[in-house]
Amino acid sequence: MRMISLLVLLLGFSGVTCSCDLPDPLKGGSTCENYTDSCLYVPEGEAVYIASDTLGDPDVNKTIQFTWRREKGNTSISSSEEERIHHHGPALLFLPIYLNDSDLYIARFDMAGKCHILYVPVKVVAARDPEGGNLLYTPLNISDTNPKITCPEIVKDRCKAEKGVFSWDRNSTLMAGEAGEDLQLLGVTKADSALYTCRCTWRHMEHMAYNTTASRNLIVEDKGFFSKIQIIHPTTKELMVHPGYPLSIKCKALIGTNVCSKCKGECQGTWEKNNHSLNSIDGYRQNFSCNMEEPSKKSFITSTLIIDKVQESDLKASFRCRAKSPTDVKYHYLTLKRAESLTSLLVALMCVSAVFLLATTAIKCFAVDLVLFSRRFLPCTKTRNDGLQYDVYVVYQSEKAMEEILSRFLYQALLQVLEQKCGFRVFIHGRDAIPGEDRLRQVEERVMLSRRLMVVLTPGSEVNETLGSSPSGPPSEAVDWQIGLHHALLQEMRVILVQLGDMGPQGYTHLSPTLKHLVRKSAPLCWREDSPGASHWNSRFWKRVRYAMPSAVAKPSSSVV
Ligand SMILES: *[C@@H]1O[C@H](CO)[C@@H](O)[C@H](O)[C@H]1NC(C)=O
Ligand SMILES: *[C@@H]1O[C@H](CO)[C@@H](O)[C@H](O)[C@H]1NC(C)=O
Ligand SMILES: *[C@@H]1O[C@H](CO)[C@@H](O)[C@H](O)[C@H]1NC(C)=O
Ligand SMILES: *[C@@H]1O[C@H](CO)[C@@H](O)[C@H](O)[C@H]1NC(C)=O
Ligand SMILES: *[C@@H]1O[C@H](CO)[C@@H](O)[C@H](O)[C@H]1NC(C)=O
Ligand SMILES: *[C@@H]1O[C@H](CO)[C@@H](O)[C@H](O)[C@H]1NC(C)=O
Ligand SMILES: *[C@@H]1O[C@H](CO)[C@@H](O)[C@H](O)[C@H]1NC(C)=O
Ligand SMILES: *[C@@H]1O[C@H](CO)[C@@H](O)[C@H](O)[C@H]1NC(C)=O
Ligand SMILES: *[C@@H]1O[C@H](CO)[C@@H](O)[C@H](O)[C@H]1NC(C)=O
Repeated sequence: MRMISLLVLLLGFSGVTCSCDLPDPLKGGSTCENYTDSCLYVPEGEAVYIASDTLGDPDVNKTIQFTWRREKGNTSISSSEEERIHHHGPALLFLPIYLNDSDLYIARFDMAGKCHILYVPVKVVAARDPEGGNLLYTPLNISDTNPKITCPEIVKDRCKAEKGVFSWDRNSTLMAGEAGEDLQLLGVTKADSALYTCRCTWRHMEHMAYNTTASRNLIVEDKGFFSKIQIIHPTTKELMVHPGYPLSIKCKALIGTNVCSKCKGECQGTWEKNNHSLNSIDGYRQNFSCNMEEPSKKSFITSTLIIDKVQESDLKASFRCRAKSPTDVKYHYLTLKRAESLTSLLVALMCVSAVFLLATTAIKCFAVDLVLFSRRFLPCTKTRNDGLQYDVYVVYQSEKAMEEILSRFLYQALLQVLEQKCGFRVFIHGRDAIPGEDRLRQVEERVMLSRRLMVVLTPGSEVNETLGSSPSGPPSEAVDWQIGLHHALLQEMRVILVQLGDMGPQGYTHLSPTLKHLVRKSAPLCWREDSPGASHWNSRFWKRVRYAMPSAVAKPSSSVV
C-alpha cells in the first residue's frame, strides 16, 4: 500500500473511459491484491504504449518483477524489445497494434511480500469504425477566437520520451507546417470546427517508424450578436382582466443571436406601472430569464409580471414592459380593461333574445292593427288612379237556408263598414248590375275593373254547382262565382275569402279544386252574426278584411256609373 502511494500518475486517459465486459476469471477467487484499469480504445495500425492508470510510475522500483499474459489462450508476453508486443515492467507496448490484439492483458507482480494482479482491457478499433468515436478525447468547446489545441498527454508524453516528431491533421487532412506539440489557431470561426488529430511519429530500436495519434473535436460556438430588440409578446395594447383575480402577463422580446451568456447583467426585462418600477411593491412580482432557441440560437428575454389581485387602480394605470440589452431598449405599453364576466354576458344575451322574441310576437299579433294604424296617416279617403273602378267585387251563392244571413252580411255589415265607413267602392252583383246588359260581359268587365275579389262561402256553396251548366239557365250568382274565380286565378287577383257561419261536418272538402287551393293559401275570415262586433268597423273580423283591402280607395270614374 505504501508502495502504491509512491507511484505517480503517468498518463491521463480521462477522455477515453469506458467499461469492457470483464471475463469470468476476474470475478473472484484469488487472494491477491488486484486492480482493474478502465478499458482502453486504440486505433489499429498504430504504436501503442500503455501505462496503467491505476498503477503509477513503474520506474520507482525497478527491482519489481512483472509477468504479463493475455487472457485469450493464456499466452505469456515477453519483455524482449524484439517482440511486436512486449512489456517494460508495468507498461505494455504494441508495435504496432492489430485488430486481433483486443484482449484482457493481465500483469502479476509481488510487492511488499504480497501478490498483486493488474487487469488491462484493450479494445482495438478499425480506423474508420463507427466506434471510432470512442477514440476521441474530450471535445474542446471554446469561445476564444485564438484557441490553443493541446495534444492529449498519452501522445505528447510518449513523443517527448521517444523524441518523436509531431504533426497535425484537420478532418484527416495533414495541416502543412504544423509540427508543434500544441496547435495554435488564430481567428477561428465556426468554419474551423473540425476533428483535430495530433500525431507523433517515432522510432523504436532505431529501425522502425511508428505513428501514435489522438484526436479531438473542436467546436467553435457561434459568436453571438445583439440585434434590435423586438417585443414578441404581448401583442396587444389592451388586456381584458377580471378585477379581484390574480393575473400574470408575460413579456417576451428577441434581443439577438446566441447572446444570453454575453448579457452580463445588461439584459433586462422589467414591468413598470405608471413609469414606476414594480420591484418590491406588495402584490406585484416579476421574474426574468434569458433563453436561447435551438438550433437557431435566437435569444429571448422573458419577464412575467404576477399581480396577486387586480385592483381598480390597475384598470386606470398604464403598464409597460421595458426590454433592454446592452445595445437597445424597447417598451411595450399595456392597459388593463375590465372583462365582462361570462354570466353577465349570458344574461345580456338572454335579455336581448327575450326582447327580440317579444318584439316578433308583438309584431305578429298586431300586424293587422299596425298596418291599419299606419294607413290612418294615408287617409281612408285617399284615392288611387290605376284605372280600376272598384275596390272589391263580391261574389256569393245564395241558398235558401242562408238567404237572410247573407243579405244581412252583404247589405248591412259589409256596406256599412266598407262603403260608408271607409269609402271603398264595392260591387255586389245583385245590387249593382245594370239590367238589360249582357250578363256574361258585364260580370267579366266588372271583375276586371276590381282590385279584390271577395268570395263569400256558405255551407252550401258549390253543392249545387252542376246547375251552372244546366241548359235551363244558370242562376246569376253561379255565373258571378265562376267568372270571378276564373279571373282571380288568371290575373293573380287578390281574393278575400269570407265564411258565413260554420261549414258543417263536411268542412271544405266539397269545394272545387280552385277554391280548395285558395282556402289553403289563406284561411277564410269567419263572420259571425251573433258576435258583438259583427258590423262594427273596428272589430277583429272587419280589421282583417280592411287589412286585406287595398290601402287606398279606387277613384270613381265617369265612364262607368
Ligand atoms: C480482488 O481483490 C479483492 C479484495 O481486494 C477480492 O475480494 C477479489 O476476489 C479479488 N479478485 C480477483 C479476481 O482476484
Ligand atoms: C524495491 O523492492 C525491493 C523488493 O520488494 C525492496 O527490497 C527494495 O527496498 C525496494 N527499493 C526501493 C528503492 O524502494
Ligand atoms: C496460465 O499459465 C500460467 C503459467 O504457464 C499458469 O500458472 C496458470 O495457471 C495458467 N492459467 C490458466 C487460467 O490457465
Ligand atoms: C493478427 O493479425 C495480424 C495482421 O492482421 C496477423 O499478422 C497475425 O498473424 C494475427 N495474429 C493472430 C494470433 O491471429
Ligand atoms: C459549449 O459551452 C457553452 C458554455 O460555455 C455551453 O452552453 C454549450 O452547450 C457548450 N456546447 C457543447 C456542444 O458542449
Ligand atoms: C470537418 O468535418 C465535419 C464533419 O464531417 C464538418 O462538419 C466540418 O465542417 C469539417 N470541417 C472542416 C474545417 O472541414
Ligand atoms: C504515419 O502517418 C503518416 C501520415 O498519415 C503516414 O504517411 C505514414 O505512412 C504513417 N506511418 C506508419 C508507420 O504507419
Ligand atoms: C412615462 O414616461 C414617458 C417618457 O419617459 C412619458 O411619455 C409618459 O407620459 C409617462 N407616463 C406616465 C403615466 O407617467
Ligand atoms: C416566472 O413566473 C411564471 C409564472 O409563475 C412561470 O411560469 C415561469 O416559469 C417563471 N420563470 C422563471 C424564469 O422563473
